[in-house]
Amino acid sequence: MKTLYGVIGDPVAHTMSPLMHNDAFMVNEIDSHYQPFLVKSEELEEVVKALKVLGVQGFNVTIPHKQAIIPLLDEVDPLAKAIGAVNTVVRREGRFIGYNTDGLGFLKSLKESCPFPLENKKYLIIGAGGAARAIFYSLASSGIENIDICNRTRSRGELIISECPFTCTAFSLSLQQAEQTLENYDIIIQTTSVGMYPEVNAIPFKVERIKKDAFVSDIIYNPLSTKIIRKFWELGGQGDNGIGMFVHQGALAFELWTGIVPDSNRMKTIVQQHLGG
Ligand code: ATR
Repeated sequence: MKTLYGVIGDPVAHTMSPLMHNDAFMVNEIDSHYQPFLVKSEELEEVVKALKVLGVQGFNVTIPHKQAIIPLLDEVDPLAKAIGAVNTVVRREGRFIGYNTDGLGFLKSLKESCPFPLENKKYLIIGAGGAARAIFYSLASSGIENIDICNRTRSRGELIISECPFTCTAFSLSLQQAEQTLENYDIIIQTTSVGMYPEVNAIPFKVERIKKDAFVSDIIYNPLSTKIIRKFWELGGQGDNGIGMFVHQGALAFELWTGIVPDSNRMKTIVQQHLGG
C-alpha cells in the first residue's frame, strides 16, 4: 500500500509542492503519494490527530498553520523552535517532529546562485515577517556573522535580532536608513510582499546605491522577476528570484522524510514549467 505524505494549509489549491514531491517519489521508485489538504484553523488540532492515526509519514505546513501547529507536535527541532514556525513534519516511531526548512532552503539556493562565496560578507534582509525570521536565524545558525534587517516597522526587526539564539552582529534599520547605506551590503535579501502579484510595479526602496557587484535575492517568484530585481539588473547587477528557496525547502523536507537527496534541478524545472518561466 502507498504511504501518504501531504501539505496542510488554507488556501492550498495552488501549491506546487505535490508536483515536485510526487515526481521525486516516482523517479526514486518510492511507493508514496503527496496530497494537498485544505485545513481551516479551527480544524487543525483534529486534523493533526487524524493524520497521525491514519499513518501519514510526513507533511508540509503552510499558511496559516506554521505557528499554530507547534503545540500540537510531539517534538520541535531547535532551529524551528527559534524561528517559531514549522513547515515540515516528520513521523518517527509514531511521533510527529517539526522542522523548518524554509531558511536553510534559502541558504542552499543562495549558495547555488550567488556568484561569490557567502562567508565574510555583509547581509541585509528587507522585511521582518515570518520569512525574514526564518532566513535570519538560518543564516546566523550557519555561521554568517553580519546580518542587518530593515523594515517599515523597525521594532519588528529589533525583535528578531533580540530573540535570536545564535551569535551574530546585527542592526535594525528603517527602510529610509537602509536606502542611504545600501552600498555597505554584499548580499541583499528581499522578503516583504512588496512587488508580489498583483502589485508587480511596487518596490520597497530605491536600488541605485546598491553596489553593482552585490547580489540581490528576492524570495518572491510570482512574478518571476520583481521590480527591485529588474531595476538592479538594469544597473548591471546580479540577482535571483524565490524559486530556488521554494525548491530547496521542498528538497530538504523530502530528504527528512525519505533519507534520499532528491534531484533539485529536476524539481526546479518542474516548478519553472508550471510557472511558465
Ligand atoms: P511573511 O510571513 O510572508 O514574511 P508577514 O509576516 O506578513 O509575511 O510580513 C510581511 C513583511 O512585508 C513585513 O516585513 C511587512 O512590514 P511591516 O512589518 O512593517 O508590516 C512588509 N510589508 C508588507 N507590505 C509592505 C509595504 N507596503 N511596504 C513595506 N513593507 C511592507
